Amino acid sequence: MAKEKFYITTPIYYPSDKLHIGHSYCTVATDTMARYKRMRGFDVKFLTGTDEHGQKIERIAKEKGVSPKEYVDGIVRWVKELWKTLDISYDYYIRTTDEKHIKAVQAIFKKLYENGDIYKSSYEGLYCTPCETFYTERQLVDGKCPDCGREVEKLKEESYFFKLSKYQDRIIKHIEENPEFIQPPTRKNEMINNFLKPGLEDLCISRTSFKWGIPVDFDPGHVVYVWVDALSNYISALGYASDDDSDFKKYWPADVHVVGKEIVRFHTIIWPAMLMALDLPLPKKVFGHGWLIIDGGKMSKSKGNVVDPKVLTDKYGVDSVRYFLLREIAFGQDGNFTNEALINRINADLANDLGNLLSRTVGMIDKYFGGVLPKEQTGNDFDAEIVKTALNTVVKVEEYMEKMLFSDAFSEIWVLVRRCNKYIDETTPWIVAKDETRKAELAGIMYTLSEALRIIAVLISPGMPNTPKEIYKQLCVEDDSLKTWDSIKDFGAMPKEVRIEKGSVVFPRIDVKKELEELEAAMEKAQSESIANKSGKDDKKKTEDTEIITIDDFSKIKLRVGKVIKCEKVEKSDKLLKSQIDIGGEVRQIVSGIASYYSPEEMVGKNVVVVVNLKPVKLRGVLSEGMILAASDDSGSLKAVTVDGDIKSGSEVR
Ligand code: ME8
Ligand code: MG
Repeated sequence: MAKEKFYITTPIYYPSDKLHIGHSYCTVATDTMARYKRMRGFDVKFLTGTDEHGQKIERIAKEKGVSPKEYVDGIVRWVKELWKTLDISYDYYIRTTDEKHIKAVQAIFKKLYENGDIYKSSYEGLYCTPCETFYTERQLVDGKCPDCGREVEKLKEESYFFKLSKYQDRIIKHIEENPEFIQPPTRKNEMINNFLKPGLEDLCISRTSFKWGIPVDFDPGHVVYVWVDALSNYISALGYASDDDSDFKKYWPADVHVVGKEIVRFHTIIWPAMLMALDLPLPKKVFGHGWLIIDGGKMSKSKGNVVDPKVLTDKYGVDSVRYFLLREIAFGQDGNFTNEALINRINADLANDLGNLLSRTVGMIDKYFGGVLPKEQTGNDFDAEIVKTALNTVVKVEEYMEKMLFSDAFSEIWVLVRRCNKYIDETTPWIVAKDETRKAELAGIMYTLSEALRIIAVLISPGMPNTPKEIYKQLCVEDDSLKTWDSIKDFGAMPKEVRIEKGSVVFPRIDVKKELEELEAAMEKAQSESIANKSGKDDKKKTEDTEIITIDDFSKIKLRVGKVIKCEKVEKSDKLLKSQIDIGGEVRQIVSGIASYYSPEEMVGKNVVVVVNLKPVKLRGVLSEGMILAASDDSGSLKAVTVDGDIKSGSEVR
């Protein structure tokens, strides 16, 4: 019998930013679902990738002196490494710079044009360059971009438009008739009330003011603009409009697009309209998850509060990080990320509950039976409840996993884990072991624990791909048929003569206080290394006097005039100020050690000189993308370097 297909996708990420734990969150969740479906016998296609075109990337590449393609190539390598580290089992990686994608987008654009769904006009709107999005006046927040809070500019240019308005009623109807389409359900009302009911405006889908995009082949001055390019990835990856569209025929429509809540709108309005215009079926579900929040705000590079997933996996292991992301935050809602919460989860759930259950079980089989259980076993009063809990857990986990409620699924699994630890306390094996006549009973207790652990291993495998391997190893489960989802539908599939092989502690306990202090120390170190190092003044003088540099050396340092538009103290630091500085069409966050010399209010409005091509660093965990120049003298006074009179932000300093 042919397997049923399951097509699941993540958003394609912008390679302009380093991906952080927020992106990893979405990808880990999607991966967990993909792994679960594979275990349930589906023919899974799991797609992820990168969204590589647009003005912002063109600009960053230019600043770095490389071509846009070279720039994105580097980041894509890095992203793929990250997904490898996090054990992301994607089946296909789509890049919007792939020839296959470019061809598909051109075909889609042409088809929409020929069908009369696209027309040429001109667009005037308020544009946020970093977000590559036009906004209407009423969408702005305090006159600024509602997404990133930066300045927007008025832009007018010739553009093609997609007749989004034409599909409004059909989309409303679809959403209302298919309650499963938008998940979680709260997002549905938001779409209907905030976007669809007020009326859709036609959508600008081509641009002439930049080049880094897919050319409209019948009108070469235009490149396809962001959403038509990006959304098409879900079908171009399957070979839509290519010579080989067998995957498209097999996997489309998608079973679920997993996306962050801020892009649900694009996936439940624009994407369906495009598909309707192309006469293609709509995805079955769009799941809009929440954000990982840090200190009350969305984690994002522009805010400088990103957490690097690699630092966490190096320190705590991949499964711990994955477990935390899946368990701590209800999928769909926003959730807070703190190091402390992560460490507490690792200690409580992983080291204490699961780790202990395994080491106690293995340790007792070793101690009481020399590592192999005898076949003669009898039950005890508490077995029935373990069996019932285990089987019930399987049913509940399936229900939750189908709804992508990962946190509920894991909390259910941990009910079983804790129940097993309690079972040890109830059956008191150390007392039973003292009585030679109760050997069969003791063996029965050990078997129940081993079998429950095997079931737990299978249940956690979609979310935690590595830990089960260690559990199987220590319980000598070699037969692959004992690692399948089907094998946990009954209690007792494991042969009675359980053997063990003592192994390492799966989740070592972390000393919370020490760990947090170490993290703090690491941040202090970064801070002292990167802040203008005043104590080395004498050395500095020596180099200044002796080392002659050429004009070429000097021109490597890019200096620009920047206007301080916002400034505040860095929390828990009395030396640092965090400024938002407009360096001409871009706002940089810069942390400087000047809090003893300037109040945040004094800084706002100053035209300072900024080193713009300095490698970004984190100071006290806050990202600093550049440096403000300042002069200091022996008396301990310090003055920021400002320019003499008014000049445009972003002007070069030479
Ligand atoms: O939007 N917490 O790309 P993107 C949780 N290219 N999720 C987060 C997050 C956080 N702190 N920060 C980002 C794009 N994300 C487009 C998508 S799809 C056809 C095109 C999530 O790199 C965010 O919610 O800005 C989004 O779903 C995804 O990362 C990609 O964001
Ligand atoms: Mg985004």
